[in-house]
Amino acid sequence: MTNRTIPVRDFDCLIFGATGDLCRRKLIPALYHRLHAGQLDAMIECGGRIIGTSRSDMTTSQFQEFAKSAIEEALPTTEIDSGTLKTFLSLLQYQLTDAFSSEGWDELANLVKADPAANDRVRVLYLAVAPVIFAPIVEKIESNGLVSKCSRIVVEKPLGSDLESAQELNKTIGNVFSEAQIFRIDHYLGKETVQNLLTLRFSNILFERNWGNSAIDHVQITVAEALGVGARGNYYDTSGAMRDMVQNHLLQLLCLVAMEPPARFDADAVRDEKLKVLKALKPLVGKDVARATVRGQYSAGALGSRVLPAYSHEIDAESSDTETFVAMKAEVSNFRWAGIPFYLRTGKRLATRMSEIVIQFKPLSHDIFGRHPEDTPGNKLVLRLQPEEGVKQFVLIKEPGPGGMRFTEVPLDMSFAAAFDVRHADAYERLIMDVVRGDQTLFMRGDEVEQAWRWIDPVLTAWTASSQKPESYPAGSSGPPSSFELITRDNRSWQPIDGLL
Ligand code: BG6
Repeated sequence: MTNRTIPVRDFDCLIFGATGDLCRRKLIPALYHRLHAGQLDAMIECGGRIIGTSRSDMTTSQFQEFAKSAIEEALPTTEIDSGTLKTFLSLLQYQLTDAFSSEGWDELANLVKADPAANDRVRVLYLAVAPVIFAPIVEKIESNGLVSKCSRIVVEKPLGSDLESAQELNKTIGNVFSEAQIFRIDHYLGKETVQNLLTLRFSNILFERNWGNSAIDHVQITVAEALGVGARGNYYDTSGAMRDMVQNHLLQLLCLVAMEPPARFDADAVRDEKLKVLKALKPLVGKDVARATVRGQYSAGALGSRVLPAYSHEIDAESSDTETFVAMKAEVSNFRWAGIPFYLRTGKRLATRMSEIVIQFKPLSHDIFGRHPEDTPGNKLVLRLQPEEGVKQFVLIKEPGPGGMRFTEVPLDMSFAAAFDVRHADAYERLIMDVVRGDQTLFMRGDEVEQAWRWIDPVLTAWTASSQKPESYPAGSSGPPSSFELITRDNRSWQPIDGLL
């Protein structure tokens, strides 16, 4: 099977922070891939442009060199088509701007408006910059007349560091753009498996009728990373795993698992349902925090023969109280999910990179074969986000052959790689095209972001007030011992981090 590419309409894309890491690693390769797939044909035909801007003093040809090396870094040489690359580079233009002064803004506005057709095109304003400069850039975008009738602004997390700052940020952006023009990216929503979760749930009676506390025992969501904080120590040490991963990526995944079927697959219907889940999360306050959450920090460790430094060593500090690991038990207080725990877990420098959602079904209420309860595991649906994407439904079957009834668990494999002969597009490819289309279904609405903070804030406050430090776990391990106690206390166990799907 192959996939189809539906071309998008013509657009200009202005990237603020164009010489930064996000643009180099994600945005440029994503736009190149979409061009190669033929999705940008209308843009090319109508003279659409990719205009980079940042504080760096660069010419357009230096920016083209920068983009070329970004593509060479991201793609194997055999996958780079010289014709596509040439066309891609010809779309690029560059102008220096300074977010804190007027330097470069007239020139940028002139560059954008030099094309009389520019006002009729979609104008994507992508803020690939640190959140501290969101406000000044938004203000400059407006005062320099860069907001056209088809403008869409794209912002990346972190969207605030608590409820108050998130509200402030929403207000700042909302002063210039309407909610329909604001695209808040959570790149986990652009991952293939995440969308497949929605398809599985809402297109198969098999799953939808069993989706809730009558058939499901519990849900596990794990986002394990093998990498440490690397060069991002400055940002990460003020953030930690809770703000960096749980408030956004993990809660968004939880919402997609738990939400009620929206009436239609459209942006507000989907986001209304996600918001209801966030509002139904049982608050964690006081003693609940210690009981239902675990935070850890990696100490020195090893992975095979590789020696791995401790977190504090990596960020060049004597010590730090920032968590690099979080495990928690969340509950959604509504009819569908009452009594069903959602165990969440994420961490850096774990044994391997692995993200997955496990839906553990209950065992049948009566076993006609008279087996011990331990030999009758419930069915399990595993949705693997990465490294290799796929979905497996584990079922019990009879072992073949004579000699009585022996049972074995086998996976029904719905792995995408096997069924589809297509390249797996990066989340950013899909999300940028959705911005051009004006489709906000896979983007977070302002009220969702605020509601997620409303649930997270008391946990962060309790952690800060507590005399307990994050529990240490060796780099290269599966996390701190308390994260296992969190789940074994309920007579359940985590799916192994390094287990094969
Ligand atoms: C980002 C976090 O949002 O997601 C990073 O800021 C994290 O700390 C990254 O490493 C993980 O994304 P992915 O797609 O590699 O799982």
